[in-house]
Amino acid sequence: MLAELSPTLIAEVALATKLLKLKQRICILTGAGISAESGIPTFRDKQTGLWENYGVEDLATPEAFIRDPKLVWSWYQWRRQVVADKAPNPAHHALAQWQYHAQSSDQQITLITQNVDDLHEQAGSTVTHLHGNLWRNKCSQCETPVQNQARDSYSSKDTVGYDEALMTCYQCGGYIRPDIVWFGEALPVDEWQTAETAATNCELFISIGTSSLVYPAAGLAQSAKQNGAKIIEINPNPTPNTLVDITLAEKAGVILPLLIQEIIAL
Ligand code: OAD
Repeated sequence: MLAELSPTLIAEVALATKLLKLKQRICILTGAGISAESGIPTFRDKQTGLWENYGVEDLATPEAFIRDPKLVWSWYQWRRQVVADKAPNPAHHALAQWQYHAQSSDQQITLITQNVDDLHEQAGSTVTHLHGNLWRNKCSQCETPVQNQARDSYSSKDTVGYDEALMTCYQCGGYIRPDIVWFGEALPVDEWQTAETAATNCELFISIGTSSLVYPAAGLAQSAKQNGAKIIEINPNPTPNTLVDITLAEKAGVILPLLIQEIIAL
């Protein structure tokens, strides 16, 4: 596998491996790119099919839901179908293995994700979700949590139209929405606290598969850097983030198993 990488990348992987072995407090932030190799499109990918004329900013906002709740609900029902039968890829598995290994070492690993899928959990990781969970719903008015349709009732073969039936809250009659943090909404308090504390106190911050465009999550790397942490970025399309010390410009599913096998083999 190593032989297939460029000499520059091999050198960067060696540097990153040293840091991973040396540092004890580690904060990892993942984004949509880590699930791309599982077949889940990222947000910056052009939308396809029914949704090709919409950007994520047209759909993932409270204003969009007020304007056209059926449209937004249908989009999330479609996303649930896309994600329902997807499985973790080697990147998720490598992180889970590292977390498991760390339980019997001095390393403290905090895994934070912006993703609303549950592929980290499926791989066996403990993870903090900053942007909510695709498999949960709540009332858009009174925020009462609402039981979701069973996951295995979604099939990628079904068709989702623009006018999926809306559900209403049994408490107040408000429309049911996905329990996801939309643009312009506040992040969940406890999860954000966990993320900020881990980023501020870490010695090594690893950013994986995120465009680092969406705040406040994108600011976590800054908090880490200000407190002296080294920053590694894993992304086949490196971001213009000038804080990064080591750029691993390859897919997460290629790089993470390489890095983690070095640590586990210690
Ligand atoms: P984006 O879609 O903005 O960025 C995905 C990143 O993953 C890009 O920089 C890709 O180059 C990179 N990428 C693609 N394939 C990869 C692979 N195999 N390995 C590693 N990296 C890969 O996704 P996020 O940064 O997660 O918020 O987006 C942040 C937030 O904006 C999302 O949580 C979502 C979105 O709008 C909400 O829905 C609130």
